[in-house]
Amino acid sequence: MASSLGRGSAVCSVTSAHFHMRRACSPSSPRPFLVRNPPRSSLRSFASSSASLSASTSTSSDSTGNFVITTPLYYVNAAPHMGSSYTTLAADAMARYKRLAGAHVEFVTGCDEHGEKIAQAAAKAGRTPQEHVDAIAGEYAALWRRLDISNDRFVRTTSATHRAFVTAFLERVWDRGDVYQDAYEGHYCVDCEEYKDEKELVNAAGEPEEGADCCAIHRRPCPIRKEENYFFKCSSYQSQVEALLSAEPSLVSPAFRRNEIATTVAEGVRDFSISRAASPWGIPVPRDESQTVYVWFDALLGYLSALYLPHAGADGDGNGDATRDVTLEEAREILEAMSTRGVEGSGGEAGGRELAPWPVNVHVIGKDILRFHSVYWPAMLTSAGLPTPSRVFSHGFLTKDGLKMGKSMGNTLDPIELLDAYGADAVRFYFLKSISFGNDGDFNEERFINVVNDSLANDVGNLVNRCLNLLRKNGGLSFPLSASEAADNLAKANGGEPHALVTTAEQSVRVSAAAYEEMDFSRALDAALAITQLGNRFIQELEPWALYKADEDAEEATLRAHSGIVVAMEALRIAMVLLAPAVPGLASRVYAQLGLDASVLRGGVVPLDELTAWGGLQEGASFPKPKPVFARLEEMVLSAKESANAAA
Ligand code: MSP
Repeated sequence: MASSLGRGSAVCSVTSAHFHMRRACSPSSPRPFLVRNPPRSSLRSFASSSASLSASTSTSSDSTGNFVITTPLYYVNAAPHMGSSYTTLAADAMARYKRLAGAHVEFVTGCDEHGEKIAQAAAKAGRTPQEHVDAIAGEYAALWRRLDISNDRFVRTTSATHRAFVTAFLERVWDRGDVYQDAYEGHYCVDCEEYKDEKELVNAAGEPEEGADCCAIHRRPCPIRKEENYFFKCSSYQSQVEALLSAEPSLVSPAFRRNEIATTVAEGVRDFSISRAASPWGIPVPRDESQTVYVWFDALLGYLSALYLPHAGADGDGNGDATRDVTLEEAREILEAMSTRGVEGSGGEAGGRELAPWPVNVHVIGKDILRFHSVYWPAMLTSAGLPTPSRVFSHGFLTKDGLKMGKSMGNTLDPIELLDAYGADAVRFYFLKSISFGNDGDFNEERFINVVNDSLANDVGNLVNRCLNLLRKNGGLSFPLSASEAADNLAKANGGEPHALVTTAEQSVRVSAAAYEEMDFSRALDAALAITQLGNRFIQELEPWALYKADEDAEEATLRAHSGIVVAMEALRIAMVLLAPAVPGLASRVYAQLGLDASVLRGGVVPLDELTAWGGLQEGASFPKPKPVFARLEEMVLSAKESANAAA
C-alpha cells in the first residue's frame, strides 16, 4: 500500500473532524492520487439539476410523471425497531399518495449490510456476517409486509448488482480526480460509522465536557483511530452544495433543518475518508483491494442500484422475479448513459437495460443522517456526473424518556408487538397523525389508544356501521338514491346552499392534497378527519333513526333520512380516499363495505380528481351486510409488560 501513496503520503493527525479534513490541517496538502479534468457532463448535470430544483415544487414528479422516493437503507446489526419503521411508514404514505395522484412511483427501501458495526453484531450473535445479514434483512422484509409497506424495490448492499454499481461509481469519481490517499486520526463511533469532531463529543451522561469521548447520539466512547485511507474531495463541491441548500425550494426540508446544515456547510465542507483498512466486511476498493469501501459511500449508492434490481413484487423482498445481476461493465455503461441523459428523468437504454428514472425526488431520512444526504451524497453524485436529488426530508426522532429510540441504545419499541396487539392501520395512523412530520415525537400507549379509537373506531368505524345498518333496516342493502341527488335534496332544504358536508369534503380534498405534497401527514389526515367528524355530528343532529319512525309526512321524513345518510356516506367515501395513504387496510374495508372496488385506492386506475369528486355513490348500487370495519383498541402492550414487571 505504501507504494501507492505517491506524493500524498504525509501523515496528518487531525483530531477534529467528521469529514476527513486533510485540506484543513495542511496547507501543503499532498496532491490527489490521480487528477483528471472533470467530465463535462458532471458540470452540466449539476447545473441543470440545480435549475430544475428551483423550477419545480419540491415533491413534484418529474416531467414524465415519475416519482422516486426512498427510505434510508437500514443497518442490519439488529432487528428493526419502531424508530426505523417510522421512516418507512412515512415514505410509504407519500408513495401511496403519489400513486393515487397519478405518478409512476419507484419506492425504494432496503438494508445497509456492510461495515464494522454489522461484522461486530454478527460475531456477537455467533454467525457469519452473511448469515447474520440474511437473517436480519429477512426480518425487515417481513416487517414491511406486516406494516403494509408498498415498496417497489428492496435493495441489499450485499447484492452483486449493488457491488457492480459501487465499483463503477467509485471508478468515475476516481477518474474525475476526486480520490486521493492519506492518513487520518480521530475519534470513531462504530454505531454511527463516522469520525466525530471533538466538539461533538460528550460524557457518558450526555453532557459536553473537556476531554469527553462519547458519541452524543449513542453515549458510548469513540476510541481514537489512526488509518491510512482513500479520501473523497468533498471540499471541491462546497459551492455546489451551498447552491442546492439555498435554492428555492431548497434541497433540505423542513426549513429549520436546512438552516442547521447550511450553517455547518458555511464552516467549510471537508473531505472524508471513503475506505477502511480495518473492516474486511465490505466491497473491495476497485484499485486497492486491501481496503474496503466506507460503508456510507457504499450504502448511499444503494438508492441507485435499487432501481436496477428486480421489482420487489408480491413477496416484497426484492426477489420476486428472476432477472440477471448487473455486471460491472453494464454498470459502467449505465452510469455513463445516466450522466449524459442529464435531468430529463427517464427514458433511454444502456447495459442492455432501460435506464431508471433519476434523480430521486425525495429521500426520507432521520435528522441524524442529514449531513450524509445533503452534503456527501450530492457531492458524490456531482463528481460522478449524475443529477442530484430534488429533496431530502429530514424527520425527527421517536424518543423514549427523551432519548432517541435505537438498537444501539437498547431502548426500542418493538413494532411486531405493536402490530400483533393493534394491527397495521392503528400503528401507521398514530405515528403519521400524532407527530408533526419533521419534529421529534414520544410514544405513549394511552395516547396511542385514545387517538386511534377517537378517529378510526369512532369517527370512521361507527359512522359507516351505523349509517349502513340504518339503510339496511329501512330499505335494504342498496343505496336508495345517488350521492348527487342526496346532496341536491339537502341543498333544497338549505335554501339552495350546498350542505356543509359537501363543501367541507371539497375543501378537505384541496387541503389534504396540498399537505401530502408537503409531507405534512398530520395536516393531511386532519383535513380528511374533518369530514368524518362533521359527518358524525350531522347524523347525530339529523336523527335519521327517529325520521324513519315518523308517523306524519312519513315519505318526506324517509327521504330526508335517506338523503342525509347517503350524503354522510359519500363524504365518508371521499375521506377514505384521503386517508388511504395512511390506513390502506381500513380504507379498503370501508370501500368494500360501501360496495365499491377498493383496488382504485392503490392508484393508477382513476384520476385523483375523479376519485375525490362528489358523486361516487350511485342509486341502487348494493353494499354487503354491514360488519365492523375497525375494532376498538384496548390497552395491551406496555400495560401487559408493566403488570408482568410488577409481578416479577
Ligand atoms: N444505514 C444508515 C442509513 C444509510 S442510507 C444510505 C442508517 N441506518 S439506521 O438503521 O441506523 O437508521 C435508519 C433510519 O432510521 C434513519 O433515518 C434514522 O434516523 C431512523 N431512525 C432510527 N432510530 C430512530 C428513532 N428513534 N426515531 C426516528 N427515526 C429513527 O442510518
